[in-house]
Amino acid sequence: MEPKRAAVITYGCQMNKYESERIAGILVGLGYEITSQTHGADLILLNTCSIRDKAEQKVYSQLGQLKWLKRDNPDLIIGVCGCVAQQEGDRILQRVPQADLVFGPQNIPKLPALLAQVQTRRHQFSDLADNPLWDEQLFPMCRENPFQAWVTVMQGCDKFCTFCVVPYTRGREQSRPTAAITHEVQALAEQGYKEVTLLGQNIDSYGKRSPEGKDLADLLEMLHPIDGLERIRFITSHPRDFSEKLMRTVGTLEKVCEYVHLPVQSGSSAVLKRMHRGYTRDDYAFQVERLRALVPDVALSTDLIVGFPGESDDDFAQTLQLVEAVEFDSMYLFKYSPRPGTRAATFDDQVPDAVKSERFNTLIEVQEAIQLRRNRARIGRCEEVLVEGPSKKGSVQLTGRTRQNRPVNFVGHPSLTGSLVTVCIEKGGTHSLEGKVCTDRSDRGGED
Ligand code: 5AD
Ligand code: SF4
Repeated sequence: MEPKRAAVITYGCQMNKYESERIAGILVGLGYEITSQTHGADLILLNTCSIRDKAEQKVYSQLGQLKWLKRDNPDLIIGVCGCVAQQEGDRILQRVPQADLVFGPQNIPKLPALLAQVQTRRHQFSDLADNPLWDEQLFPMCRENPFQAWVTVMQGCDKFCTFCVVPYTRGREQSRPTAAITHEVQALAEQGYKEVTLLGQNIDSYGKRSPEGKDLADLLEMLHPIDGLERIRFITSHPRDFSEKLMRTVGTLEKVCEYVHLPVQSGSSAVLKRMHRGYTRDDYAFQVERLRALVPDVALSTDLIVGFPGESDDDFAQTLQLVEAVEFDSMYLFKYSPRPGTRAATFDDQVPDAVKSERFNTLIEVQEAIQLRRNRARIGRCEEVLVEGPSKKGSVQLTGRTRQNRPVNFVGHPSLTGSLVTVCIEKGGTHSLEGKVCTDRSDRGGED
């Protein structure tokens, strides 16, 4: 008998990607073969994102298309999980009759039972209960990449920024015990993984309420000695919680990469206050100054929202000024999107879309010039690169990332995939570097 096939379609952030790998691991355990094709699949799971309206609309449009597959194959099971599932719940089932099952991120471990229930009952249902199962040490995963892995260390967020759905979709902060994380990372290193990225929506709060009394800096210290592991990254930081202790740890532990994602969201203190971010523009600038002093050559990326309700021309000018002053290495820029249930969605001074677009374009232009300048400043350096594989540019070109998370393209044999090489940088573009593998150096990518 042919094995049953399952397609897991992922939207959104790294946490969703990690959870999809976990879902795929469970499905393989149930005898499914994982496919990237929805056509011909027996089970289709959409792991969804609701951070902005566009992401949510994509989910509904994909579900609309699946209607035709279900018409051809009435036995097809369609499930919706992730953040839209948690937020919309049974509304999805009402709006999308072809969906069989809706479940929240905390109920992934229950998937075998949920699928069994779909098969026996054959009518729509949801499971959105809070279900913390955080002391699990190892669970089956079906990871996409054999040398870089995501590892979730905490879930949820207690910050309630006024624009953000995460506290509603992911619930309150919960940290995984250090033993569970150490076990997972140890097992990864034994399987040949070189790099792990620790994930948490608000990762600097790791351990805040856990009885162990270990914070993120302590966790990094615990993971650092693991044999075979070469690089440790962590995302996402919060400007209010990034402690000096953590900065010192990043600066001293060799395997912890010099890369920090520190979303600023706005350069105007007035807007930051309405966003409920808990810091001012000056506080942010102080954090950056301290970080750069304690972590030499650190790369800094950020998230920024334009067109938050009430953002005036002057507020935007302050954002531009901050971006020019800080000089981020990369930026994820978003137009404000009102999300149901969040406070900012009820603010009455919403910014027109045309203004959002204009500010977006202005800021992108400024940021691209900064990026180009900063990438060109890398020319002449030799950087440690973890090779990810052939680049999209052509078969002899490989691509990888530096410790500072900059993409680098260079000529090399595909057999280098998964290894660390030193690349001498010869060119810097807006979004990536180019260079040559350096044969006469064996040290770890430092500066000349
Ligand atoms: N509108 C636009 N951008 C948002 N983000 C979060 N919520 C919204 C929203 N309602 C952005 C923030 C956050 C990133 C993950 O997404 O910049 O840091
Ligand atoms: Fe959302 Fe991040 Fe604010 Fe939490 S800290 S509410 S995840 S933007």
